[in-house]
Order: sequence, then structure tokens, then C-alpha cells
Amino acid sequence: MRTEELRTAVMRVMDEKAPPAAKLQAVCDLLRIEGERYDWAGYYLVDPHREERLVLGPFSGAPTEHTSIAFGEGICGQAAGTLKVFVVDDVTAESNYLSCSPSVKSEFVAPVLMKGVLVGELDIDSHTKAAFTKEDAAFLQWVADITAPAVAGAAGLGE
Ligand code: SME
Repeated sequence: MRTEELRTAVMRVMDEKAPPAAKLQAVCDLLRIEGERYDWAGYYLVDPHREERLVLGPFSGAPTEHTSIAFGEGICGQAAGTLKVFVVDDVTAESNYLSCSPSVKSEFVAPVLMKGVLVGELDIDSHTKAAFTKEDAAFLQWVADITAPAVAGAAGLGE
């Protein structure tokens, strides 16, 4: 599916009446199955029980050993610590990177903010180098923004 079709499909999921984690799971499945070059799609949530840590939330794709990540650690931890979007064209060139699988070649991570406060992040891995175009980045940022209330809800930080 192209990003315009994906947008419509994501909006449909977010309009459904379902628990926040179920909506995020459906979005992850949609992105991984229908998105071109998106081979793993998941949310990390701000851990309400541990200071400055992320905990793995709903995801679609191969299971990862990185279920808890400290701020500053790996691409995800850096995105959480700096509140910056990371588009990594070649993960092998990164020194601060947590590998989930040798098949992963590039990665996109966007912090998810609710009323200016970090509640989690959207993480997409690709088996293609430099998979994330400007169009992908804009689309995925939109996904991060539109899913923010559900991410806050899933993290137990209030929807
Ligand atoms: N590669 C990430 C870890 C999470 S996995 O991609 C699922 C990182 O460096 O933070």
C-alpha cells in the first residue's frame, strides 16, 4: 500500500472503539504487512515503573530481546533522551545501536509526545538499507502523532 492508502487504513483503526493497546497492535500489523519495506513495527512505551526506561509495547514482526531500554541506549534510547526523530540509513555504521536481527539494515524512530510529554515512541525496522524516504518519514511522524493518545493510554499515563 502507498502511504496515502495507509493513512486511511490507520485512521480507520484509530476510529474504532477498542482498548488503546489493541489499536496500537492493529496499527503495527498494518504497517508491517501493508507498508513497503517495513519489516518490524512496534511501540516502546515510557515505563511508568522505572525511571528513564522504555518498555516494549505492541509490535508486529520478529520477537526482540530488547524489551526494556534505558534512555540514551541504542537508537530508541537516544530518541527518548533527546526527543529527536532518528532516521538511520545504515545501522551497521552506528556505534550506539541495539541489534534485534542481522537482517535489519535501516531504522526509523519517532518519539511520541502527548501534550509535550514523552509517552513512548514508534520504531520501524527495515531489511532494506536507507529504506525511509522523506515521504516515509512524514507519514510515520503522522502515525506517531495520531496514535499519541493510545500510546499514553497503553503506557498507563492517561489517554
Ligand atoms: N534497534 C533498536 C532496538 C529496538 S529493535 O529495533 C526492535 C535500538 O537501537 O534502539
